[in-house]
Amino acid sequence: MWTVGALYENVGFQPTTFVLIVFLLGLYWIRLPKNLPPGPTGWPGVGCSLALRSRAPYLKFTEWSKKYGGVFSVRLGQSLFVVLNDIPCIKEALHKQADDFSDRFQAAVAKDFGIEGSFIFENGDIWKARRRFALGALKRFGMGKKSIEHTINEESRYLLDGFADQEGQPFDPARLVNNASSNIICKVCFGYRFDYSDPKFTELNARAKEQLSSNGPGNVVNMFSWMIRTPFYARVRETNQFLTDFLFGLVQQHRQSYDKNDIRDITDMYFTEADNLTDSGQIGKNAFSDRALGRSILDLFLAGTDTTSNTMSWLLLYMAINRDVQKMVQSEIDDVIGGSRQPSMADSPNMPYTNAAILETQRMRPVAPLAVPHQTKNDTTLGVYKIPKGTRVLVNIWAVHHDPATWTDPEKYNPARFLSADGKSVVQHESFIPFGTGRRVCLGENLAKSELFLLFVNMLQQFNLTVPDGKPIPKQDGSKGLLLSPDPYELCATRRS
Ligand code: HEM
Repeated sequence: MWTVGALYENVGFQPTTFVLIVFLLGLYWIRLPKNLPPGPTGWPGVGCSLALRSRAPYLKFTEWSKKYGGVFSVRLGQSLFVVLNDIPCIKEALHKQADDFSDRFQAAVAKDFGIEGSFIFENGDIWKARRRFALGALKRFGMGKKSIEHTINEESRYLLDGFADQEGQPFDPARLVNNASSNIICKVCFGYRFDYSDPKFTELNARAKEQLSSNGPGNVVNMFSWMIRTPFYARVRETNQFLTDFLFGLVQQHRQSYDKNDIRDITDMYFTEADNLTDSGQIGKNAFSDRALGRSILDLFLAGTDTTSNTMSWLLLYMAINRDVQKMVQSEIDDVIGGSRQPSMADSPNMPYTNAAILETQRMRPVAPLAVPHQTKNDTTLGVYKIPKGTRVLVNIWAVHHDPATWTDPEKYNPARFLSADGKSVVQHESFIPFGTGRRVCLGENLAKSELFLLFVNMLQQFNLTVPDGKPIPKQDGSKGLLLSPDPYELCATRRS
């Protein structure tokens, strides 16, 4: 048995070293803020970060929530996190106490880009002004107008060509789907699309993926932010530079052909907004500068591409695995749209089963399982607990979507849970929050919903999707990064006769 004496001998500790360690541990515990939400005990310096090495953070957090409840606290590295795991806690924080809980935590990787212009990472009045602008701009060019349907349907045709090129052979649809959602954002922002074979476009999409995968809360650099300046993160910094240069270059090109009487896209709207704000003296031109615009577009690109394409990849996978569901969706498409025209958003209310399949996919595999980290603006409270200013706050969407108290058999793929008893309409669930909730709710929610519906319907109208013959059913665990994407898988797409 190990006694303190044996420890000195075997490990070579001197009594003074031992006393020092005990003293430092004591100091660490004493200095922890009092009356925090309960949570797992960590170690000085690293907290509980080692527990996230073997499991995806959202799964580990869900496991902890079963032990500690709807809200728990945990140290990762030297940072204090509070994790919200059920709807009452989430609403209490993000709705009732929105003033304290709606700031964004500014991650090290994001700061390396510069925060100015960021829809995702800025806080305060400038964020409000940008968000107001972006919602207006997306409304004009993104949502509810025929123009975006046209853009999505046009991009769907390129995507379907890509599927047809596979000639029924096994292929991984991820890259094609990613190209399509990336091009839709490009079209909305810059008014044009890239050819799928353009190497610059391929690199842009690959670098965006790389950037996102370095950004999760379990990632070392977000626990020890100084590491971003070390050689370990040289590639991340280089990727940030590549993305910034690429998109800023596009903004500059656009500036040259800008005509205030012919507003073509969001970039043009931004130029106009900058002029109006400066003329009215409301906000200095710098706040809406071309460089800030490059950063804004980068956010739309990063937030809007992989989220949508990962959801599409999950949808295609669930269709290939659940052939009965696929057939029900196809039969609804045949009844409502037929085979000779492309879908429109006006068809959506008449297609409850198709919508239910999309919703069930988003419930099962929320692509942003921990949303995007928030941070408390002031010392505050949540129920009986105290939460210090500057605490990072994570919304555990995964736990909410997989709570057996709300969802019977939550790991079962069952679109019917989103249908009324007669199957004729979609039912809304309070515990369904794939786009987050509160003031920071996804800015592109409506655009994303249009994309998911139109891309999905276009595909199932034309193709049957199957798992390749003789191959095992693909795993459905997904990746461990900030975004939840399926592990690479193959399917076969054959033309419907
Ligand atoms: C299926 C697709 C999508 C999903 C599941 C999704 C999900 C989310 C989630 C969970 C958040 C964080 C909410 C929070 O912090 O509480 C978010 C924020 C955001 N999303 Fe999305 N998103 C999607 C598509 C898009 C698209 C297409 C765009 C852009 C056109 C976009 C732009 C943004 C932006 C800018 C934010 C930050 C908002 C802010 O901080 O004020 N997203 N999204």
